[in-house]
Amino acid sequence: MKIAVVGTGYVGLVSGACFAEMGVDVTCVDIDQQKIDSLKKGIIPIYEPGLNRIVERNSEAERLHFTTDLPSVLNEMDIVFIAVGTPSDEKGNADLSQVMKVAETIADHMTHPLLIVTKSTVPVGTSYRIRDLVRQRLDKRGLTELSFDVASNPEFLKEGAAINDFMSPDRVVVGVESEEAKELMSKLYRPFMLNNFRVIFMDILSSEMTKYASNAMLATRISFMNDIANLCERVGADVNMVRRGMGSDSRIGRSFLYPGCGYGGSCFPKDIRALISVAEGVGYEMKLLKAVEEVNNQQKNILFEKLKNHFDGELKGMTVSIWGLSFKPETDDVRDAPSLTLIRSLLDAGVTVRAYDPAAIREAQRVLGDAVYYANDIYDAALNADALIVPTEWKEFRLPNWEVLKKIMHRLVVIDGRNIYNGAELASFGFAYHGIGQK
Ligand SMILES: NC(=O)c1ccc[n+]([C@@H]2O[C@H](COP(=O)([O-])OP(=O)(O)OC[C@H]3O[C@@H](n4cnc5c(N)ncnc54)[C@H](O)[C@@H]3O)[C@@H](O)[C@H]2O)c1
Repeated sequence: MKIAVVGTGYVGLVSGACFAEMGVDVTCVDIDQQKIDSLKKGIIPIYEPGLNRIVERNSEAERLHFTTDLPSVLNEMDIVFIAVGTPSDEKGNADLSQVMKVAETIADHMTHPLLIVTKSTVPVGTSYRIRDLVRQRLDKRGLTELSFDVASNPEFLKEGAAINDFMSPDRVVVGVESEEAKELMSKLYRPFMLNNFRVIFMDILSSEMTKYASNAMLATRISFMNDIANLCERVGADVNMVRRGMGSDSRIGRSFLYPGCGYGGSCFPKDIRALISVAEGVGYEMKLLKAVEEVNNQQKNILFEKLKNHFDGELKGMTVSIWGLSFKPETDDVRDAPSLTLIRSLLDAGVTVRAYDPAAIREAQRVLGDAVYYANDIYDAALNADALIVPTEWKEFRLPNWEVLKKIMHRLVVIDGRNIYNGAELASFGFAYHGIGQK
């Protein structure tokens, strides 16, 4: 089987590499010439644990290819996946211009039957828009007899654990509308099914909706816990204990109950906005999701507020150390990261920022420029700092040497955006400690 994956970002590259690992002949396509040139040389443009080995192995085995020229490979393919970006537009809708551009290229160059699969996260109905666009353009080209199918195969991988998620997913959701498409997608995923996970076939609209509904549910859990955490602080309860107590109820479960400084990343914020906007388009108001978003926006300011409260609002001229820039550990992705909201507030308040991240400095620098000092390690970042703030819980931040920090920091204040430290332990070293949802 031969497939093309169009869009070689976090989703496209991981999907392409993992399909190749299962023996499929894969061509990854992108319009970014620099990205494709790097990949041809074996340089991986993103940080994703384990990805480089899989790309290297499958490139060497000539099962994984890279090109910027979709038309030249299109007609060798059985399936073309669309895995390009669907960012928010200025109104909060999913901007489908990249997706539709790929659909146009396919329609204008295909000469044999194809299955066109949408892997990008797209609003309900997008696969049908692709189908209609392709049909119209084929008809215009006089190819009225040329048949093709569309399908929806949303991606649920998590950055930082993407390889494992793709290779052994909880489930694969596939929306199809013909037996041929179902057969082809079953064949593609059969090697993965040996691991006993389920491929859930459904109609296309439900498949597109499943992706948004899943992200909306996860974001809701996070905002719910952040709301509970903020209340815990005010009534003297400890959210860490509350979380444990709640999570042991099998109806609730333990995951996604961690309070923090808000969700970010390339998916939740834009997908929540897009779902609210899809609902508005059909005259329905997603009241719950609007609140989820509002709580999150408020939560992204919480670390700055805690710092201001600690110093009675007097921040000008201070130096603050930030550990963690990516929106979560094990990725270099800083899109919509809470760290960026925090750093922008600090800079506006006249604070000098010394930041460190194990993987995301290059990406953060692209967004923040040179307004921030990018440190070589956690101790360099903490040098002469009046406070240390941790927005991202990378493993290497978990057990720092507090004796060393005590010596090199100017003032001993720690604001822990992910509740990874023990307040009593820090107090024993002389640090003032502020976590989330604790007294
Ligand atoms: N990142 C995640 O964790 C994740 C998880 C699940 C689903 N998704 C969804 O998957 C989609 C892709 O996300 P991503 O994070 O991989 O995006 P990304 O921004 O990392 O990658 C998108 C890629 O598409 C390329 N591209 C744009 N237009 C193109 C065109 N016309 N032809 C070829 N390539 C083109 C870009 O150059 C870029 O390399 C989005 O819809 C996203 O919501 C992302």
